[in-house]
Amino acid sequence: MKAPYIICHMMTTVNGKILGANWGADAKTYSGIYEKCHNTFKSEAWMCGRATMEKDFADEQPVLIGSNIPVVREAFIGDKTASSFAIAVDGKGKLGWKSNQIGGDHIIEILTEDVSDACLHYLQRKDISYIFAGKTDIDLASALQQLVKLFPVKTIMLEGGGYLNGSMLNEGLVDELSILVLPIADITPNTITAFELSDHLPKKETAVLTVKDVRQLQNDVLWLTYRVSRK
Ligand SMILES: NC(=O)c1ccc[n+]([C@@H]2O[C@H](COP(=O)([O-])OP(=O)(O)OC[C@H]3O[C@@H](n4cnc5c(N)ncnc54)[C@H](OP(=O)(O)O)[C@@H]3O)[C@@H](O)[C@H]2O)c1
Repeated sequence: MKAPYIICHMMTTVNGKILGANWGADAKTYSGIYEKCHNTFKSEAWMCGRATMEKDFADEQPVLIGSNIPVVREAFIGDKTASSFAIAVDGKGKLGWKSNQIGGDHIIEILTEDVSDACLHYLQRKDISYIFAGKTDIDLASALQQLVKLFPVKTIMLEGGGYLNGSMLNEGLVDELSILVLPIADITPNTITAFELSDHLPKKETAVLTVKDVRQLQNDVLWLTYRVSRK
């Protein structure tokens, strides 16, 4: 079945760490470079894991109101006119949003069927789109196929965090990497890298990459792009 083209766009230290809080005074400059490079890609959507959305974008606690009306587990489209999208991988429906868009990009929640009816009522009240991918754990391949079928989405920028990137790569769902290597070696112990995998998920084949382009940008940032062979 058709799947969207996935470009994983991240900035990392030379040792692969991704936590901006450790990057000192230049962190803002690096974010500007990150956005500039992001904007060179033609895409209709960007996608992040629940933890990244919660930290950087989600702006309220979901307001869950009990209801006796059960909700059928089928996709809900909150804005049929939207042409750009922010996709949150939020299997348990933990995220809360003030509106149904982030910076003009319509929010799509990827949920599991395990979420409460109250969560679905909340998202419907907010006109936030959602799809179901998996009963209790997210099936990422199914999610991507549904996104292409239900929304005008051909290319998705996968933008962290490390656990979502790692799962997508492990499943062979990433086509391209766009990595900004910052001139920083961050030795903070037990912090995440650009690609992580939860202990409960089986590790599949290691991804083999082909260099597409190498550029030196301002502030000693290197921009490396790679093609990934899909399995
Ligand atoms: N340097 C950069 O370019 C960059 C970019 C983006 C983010 N970040 C940073 O990365 C940090 C967060 O990264 P993170 O790795 O901890 O979290 P993450 O990848 O943003 O989110 C992980 C969460 O997504 C949900 N999820 C559902 N299915 C999943 C699956 N198959 N695989 C992975 N996740 C799945 C889970 O939520 P539940 O636990 O609710 O089930 C999981 O805990 C933040 O500090 C953020 O600022 C850095």
